[in-house]
Amino acid sequence: MLVELLHQGKVRDVYSDRPGEVILVASDRVSVYDVVLPTPVPDKGKLLTALSLWWFDQLADVTPNHVISADDVPDEGAGRAVRCRQVDIVQVECIARGYLAGLGWDSYRETGRISGVRIPPGLVEGDRLPEHVFTPTTKTAPEDGHDEPMIFDEVASEVGSELADALRSKTLALFAKASEISAQRDVLLADTKFEFGTTPDGDLVLADEILTSDSSRFWRVEDWKPGQRQISFDKQYVRDWARDLGTWDKTPPGPEIPEDVVAETRRRYVSMYERITGLRWE
Ligand SMILES: Nc1ncnc2c1ncn2[C@@H]1O[C@H](COP(=O)(O)OP(=O)(O)O)[C@@H](O)[C@H]1O
Ligand SMILES: [Mg+2]
Repeated sequence: MLVELLHQGKVRDVYSDRPGEVILVASDRVSVYDVVLPTPVPDKGKLLTALSLWWFDQLADVTPNHVISADDVPDEGAGRAVRCRQVDIVQVECIARGYLAGLGWDSYRETGRISGVRIPPGLVEGDRLPEHVFTPTTKTAPEDGHDEPMIFDEVASEVGSELADALRSKTLALFAKASEISAQRDVLLADTKFEFGTTPDGDLVLADEILTSDSSRFWRVEDWKPGQRQISFDKQYVRDWARDLGTWDKTPPGPEIPEDVVAETRRRYVSMYERITGLRWE
């Protein structure tokens, strides 16, 4: 079988072996401050793939998605690969927020708005937002710099107002259901990023990976303390380790991760997977 590498991302690779389909493969690579570290975290790719598939299933009644099969993949990709319909990815990162964190917090503090949406005054970092907000950004290749916030009218002039409306309403509907499911498991979904694509028939489907710790901020409810930066239980651990080294300037090459830090990072990914899905990781 001829398999062609279409795209190599920081942590995932996209292959093609049949027309109209792609295979997304999640590696065990870890990226910290946008730098891929030389040490993999065993099973990270499988854990995030399983989590994403679980979410696609949970949200299938909200919007159709690109997944064809997680079994019909080349042997080397077993557990970490997903066969998907190839779609034309809409060049807007569809972000929804339920809590104030990261760039959303920065923007609110500076302007009282996020992606043009006015947010009530007086909120602190980590606070719950009174309503979920759609805060899209441009989808920019890493080598071309960072994603920029877009106000809704910019999305509309980029993709047309009908598609812009659909992106917003689908993003918010997915986010509402995902937030509700997470909350039942004592996990706060602070924010997440969805990507949508159009099929050759013109249908809009949910694509990429969804609701993994590489695309979302998840907080354990017992760790939540508004008024400060929140701990993201799984991802923050290896980031904090890298920062606290004090010897790395956040440019490539990144530092080797010691064995105990790898083991603890893996344990945390497993723990988040188990908490959210209620399943045991074998
Ligand atoms: N069904 C799909 N069809 C075509 N491209 C897709 C599909 N799902 C996701 N993609 C694209 O595959 C790529 C996955 O690579 P990724 O590791 O996220 O790297 P990056 O986001 O840096 O490009 C992304 O560009 C994403 O938009
Ligand atoms: Mg990506």
